[in-house]
This record gives sequence, C-alpha cells and structure tokens, in this order.
Amino acid sequence: MENKGQANSKGQFGSSFGFLMAAIGSAVGLGNLWGFPYKMGANGGFAFLILYLILVVFVGYVMLLTELSLGRRTGKGVIGAYEAISKKYAFIGWMGAIAPWLILSFYSMLGGYCIKYAVANLGDLFGAGWGVGGVDSSEFFAGFTTDMLETSIYSLIFVILTVVIVLRGVSGGIEKFNSVAMPALFVMLVIVIIRSVTLPGASEGLAFMFKPDWSVFEGNGWISVLSVAGGQMFFSLSIGMSIMIAYGSYLPKDQNLERNALTIPLADTTVAVMAGVATLPAVFAYGLEPSQGPGMLYITLQAVFSNMGDLGGLFGFLFYGLVFIAAITSSISLLEGVTSAAMDKAIEKGRTPNRKKTTLILGISIAITSVLVSLDGLGANGFPQFFGQSTWLDAVDLISEGILMPLGACYCAIVIPISWVNEEVTLNGSRFRTKGFYDFCIKFVAPIMMVMILLGQLDTFFGLGMF
Ligand code: PFF
Repeated sequence: MENKGQANSKGQFGSSFGFLMAAIGSAVGLGNLWGFPYKMGANGGFAFLILYLILVVFVGYVMLLTELSLGRRTGKGVIGAYEAISKKYAFIGWMGAIAPWLILSFYSMLGGYCIKYAVANLGDLFGAGWGVGGVDSSEFFAGFTTDMLETSIYSLIFVILTVVIVLRGVSGGIEKFNSVAMPALFVMLVIVIIRSVTLPGASEGLAFMFKPDWSVFEGNGWISVLSVAGGQMFFSLSIGMSIMIAYGSYLPKDQNLERNALTIPLADTTVAVMAGVATLPAVFAYGLEPSQGPGMLYITLQAVFSNMGDLGGLFGFLFYGLVFIAAITSSISLLEGVTSAAMDKAIEKGRTPNRKKTTLILGISIAITSVLVSLDGLGANGFPQFFGQSTWLDAVDLISEGILMPLGACYCAIVIPISWVNEEVTLNGSRFRTKGFYDFCIKFVAPIMMVMILLGQLDTFFGLGMF
C-alpha cells in the first residue's frame, strides 16, 4: 500500500526548484495579496504579525512537514494517504478532497475578477472604451459584480485556464508554469512596492502595518486574533487538506523534506508582508480606508490606480496581472489536490489513471459551482443566503476554510504515525534537525492550537461573541 520509492504513475516533479516553485505558487495566492494585508491592519498590526509568525513556526511548519511526508511516504493523494494509515481514516481524506473543490468555486470567481481588472486597466492605459474610464471604483465594482453574464464568463475563463495547465500534468504543466510564473510574480511585486512606498504620504500605511497595537491582547481579544491569524495561516500555507499531500507524493525520494518545509512558509510569509507593503502605503497615500474583504482588493486599490494619472493603467495592469498569477498558481494546486485523489481511485481498481478525463470531469463540476457563486454577485443580486452569511462566497468559505481545514489538520496531527515522518525525513541519511521540536509540537502544540482556531473561526462566522 505504501510507496517505498517507485515513480508515481500520476506524475513527478522534475527538479527541486520546480517543486519549490509549485509549492510556493500554491501557498502564495489571494490569501497573501488580499487577505493578509487587511487582516494584519485590522487586528493589531505588528502584534498580529508576531502571533502569525509564532503560528507559522509551531503549527504551519510542523503540519507542512507532516503532510509532505505523508504524501511522499504513501505516494497517494489525500484519500489514499489517510487510508494507508488506516481504512477508518478515509473520512479525513474525504474532508481534504472536498475542501479544495469548494474553495475553487469562489477562488475562480475572484481570479476571474482579476482578469477583468487587468483587462480594464490595460484599456485605461490605451484610453480604450473598455477601461475603467474614470468611473468611481465602487460603482465600477458594483456594475461588474451584478452583471451576471460578465462575471460568469470571467470565472469560466479562469476555470478553463486552470484546467488546461493541470491537464498537462505535474512536470509538463504545473511545474513548468510555476517555474516561469513565480519569478515573474516576484519582479512585478517589487515594481509595485517601489511605486507604492515612493508616493507622498506612504509612511502612514507602513505605520498602519508595523505599529504595534497591544490592546488586542487585553482580555480574551487575543483568542480572536489568534483564530484570524490561524485561519489565515492554514489558507495561506495551503495546509489542512489535500494539496501538500499530493505535491509530497510527486516529490522524488532524494529531496530533503525538512529544508523544503522550512523554505515554503518563509517564502509565503515574505510575500504576504511584501504584499502589505505594496498595497497599504498606496491606500493611505490617497486618503483611502483599508476596508475589509474583496472591497480592499478591487474597490480601494482600483481607486489608487485611477488616482495615479497617466501611469495608473500600467500599474493597475501590472498589479492585477500579478494577483492573477498568484491566484492561478494556487488554483492549479487546488485542482491537482482533488485530481490526484480521484486518480488514485482508478489505480485502486487496477486501471491506469486517466488524467485528462479526471481533470475534465472535475473542471466541469467546478465551472458549474463557480458560475453559481458568481451569479450571487457577492450577495448583491438578492438571492437567498445560507448559514447566516451575507454572500455565497462566505457560506462556502465557512465550510471549507472555517471548518474542514482546521478540523482536517487537527485530525492529521492526531492520527499521523510520527515514525513515518521521521523515516521520510531521514531517508538518504539526512539528519532530522528539528526532531525534538517537531515531536513536541505535533503531539501537543498543534492539536491544541487547532482546536482554539476552530472555535475562534466558528465564533467569528456565527457572531457568537465567545471571545
Ligand atoms: N494558499 C492560497 C492563498 O493564499 O491564496 C490558497 C489556497 C491554495 C488554499 C491551495 C488552500 C490550498 F490548498
């Protein structure tokens, strides 16, 4: 049942650089460029950053190493990997396969929005009629989100692009694309940062991010900050579901797992902080408010670009192009997580896995769900809402990010045979440098933290006022 070294019939990464780019590409996404800056600003700035870093080290790194090891050890996607521990744990695998499938519905919609905004800014650059054309950015946003046909088309374009890359396989599609897209993303981010921090009045935005507000630690407030930071960490590192298990299963046995598990969160957190530096100074420089949710990414930042004058279209195009790249490198990992688990089912039945057919069927199902979430227009189109949420995006997010991810990761920490991780890390004679730290965290720190994060998430989503 376990994979002790043979090549994975679903695919394999060709180089350690390719693997790292794919894993960092999965981690760096809308969560970094949109979620991190405003959550940090709204939850105590520097205090949030400290808590986030502690969580990344004690829970993120530990879970990442666990999931990569589980994947490489078993050579399976998420369902098969948990079944390899024990048949009775298949349900954890199912949770890990359903979560990314759900996330893809709203992720594709938001990715589609990025394409629309990149196109509109390009239009502005050339003075074309299809640009934003000086329209107030909230009006432009409302006009677009309530145009059910247009939003659905952009979501579908995003789904099709994701499917096309995943269809080409692990090394020919995912690895190749990430190896070009991630360095390009980095360069674009640096250009946007330089523009943002050189605007007059930019320092206020830096202060908003980095000035500590310790008052969030008074009373029980820190638990809600911990849960916001924790939810953000799960989502941002792509852990608690199927992705890192699938990517681990495509990793050749000669790769050092410990080093990779350290590099991924380091790169992800660096990009998240850089994203804050790229956006918040510009938001403050133009006297705008860093509001919450998609508004910050699409309304506030578009107002920044519209205010920039002639070059606004260029920077807007660069910025939304950058967010689009970050989003698509994550969405291909989400789709691969589900595809990998589904292909295992064919292998179990003794058949050769058919990547094309599996990806296409899953792609069609995601096309349908993403159009549904798009039709809701972030709650603006008057459709009935679920679970007390104000948009369909939030309802899907509640189930996936709010419940399935922390619960899945918590189960993972409890059921993982620690000896497997030890054996995978020390394969080829590498020393497991963080073994003492890992053992302690996986047994005690990670499960407790995850239960707190889960409670905090439910508290926030349902407005229970527990903390
Ligand atoms: N990590 C991605 C982000 O920060 O946007 C989103 C994501 C990708 C979440 C893959 C979960 C996942 F498995």
